[in-house]
Amino acid sequence: MKYTRPNLNIDNARAEYIIGQDGTAFYNQILCFSNYSPSYVVTNEDIRWVSELTKNDGPRVLTVAASGDHPMFYAMHGAKNIDTFDLSFCAKVAMDIKTAALKKLSRAEYIQLLSDMHTANRVSDIKQIGTLIDDIPQNSAYFIKKMAAYPIFSNGLHPSYYKDIIPTDDEYAAMRDTIRGPFKFIWSDIKSLHTHLVDEYDTINLSNIFEYMPPQQIHQTLASLRNHIRPGGTIIAQTGNWGISRKISAYCDAVKKFKRWARIGCLRKDNTNANSEAIAILQRTR
Ligand SMILES: C[S@@+](CC[C@H](N)C(=O)[O-])C[C@H]1O[C@@H](n2cnc3c(N)ncnc32)[C@H](O)[C@@H]1O
Repeated sequence: MKYTRPNLNIDNARAEYIIGQDGTAFYNQILCFSNYSPSYVVTNEDIRWVSELTKNDGPRVLTVAASGDHPMFYAMHGAKNIDTFDLSFCAKVAMDIKTAALKKLSRAEYIQLLSDMHTANRVSDIKQIGTLIDDIPQNSAYFIKKMAAYPIFSNGLHPSYYKDIIPTDDEYAAMRDTIRGPFKFIWSDIKSLHTHLVDEYDTINLSNIFEYMPPQQIHQTLASLRNHIRPGGTIIAQTGNWGISRKISAYCDAVKKFKRWARIGCLRKDNTNANSEAIAILQRTR
């Protein structure tokens, strides 16, 4: 089956939001994740822990864009070719703002930007964007202007909940050194992601998506990505903590079916705590 990628359509984007009586827009939560669902501004997974586990992420990485933290951490750890994907265009916009911010903002200003992005009811309330807009790719800049009255970065919890995940001073400096421009973005549902891929990767990071999918779909998605991971490379799925970490079991059940071509690992960061974040790793053996 041939899958096409969505075209940027402002009417469609606005239609995913509801305008309240006072004129404030908010996302229609019934849609859950969609082509324009608001992005997260900080990841809820500690990527450092996973990189320690897998030791070497390799130079070629495909990762969910989401808040942009995943590609930024992979770049800091030495990955050279990083492709990102997401169902929501807002993830690309958040990622583009963050990579542009690295060039111009101090770490303190960057943390303030994350907070302002999350809390803004209207994009036009995020004052730092004015200084960044010229460094943001054209399609993201266009989207920001057209969606000025919408809360397109309002998903998830406030960044202050993720103090341990926000880059340290050293990490922020390393990101500034290694990230020179925007990441490549594939606008796609994970179900059809493989139809847009041409490369083979060392690491494919599918964090925090499978928790929202039925096991059969997880199984099909993993099978479709097999030819895009090099032998020895890993496909990883990680969850944040609390309720969602419990849902990793569906993913673990799905990956176990691939024993013929992969080495499988499922583990929790803290084994004594059922709410601690968890990861499933699938390493291609042949
Ligand atoms: C639950 S969110 C969590 C945010 C993430 N932990 C981070 O690093 O910011 C997962 C991300 O996956 C995207 N997503 C959800 N379902 C998807 C799907 N079926 N295909 C592609 N991306 C999807 C969402 O748009 C969102 O950006």
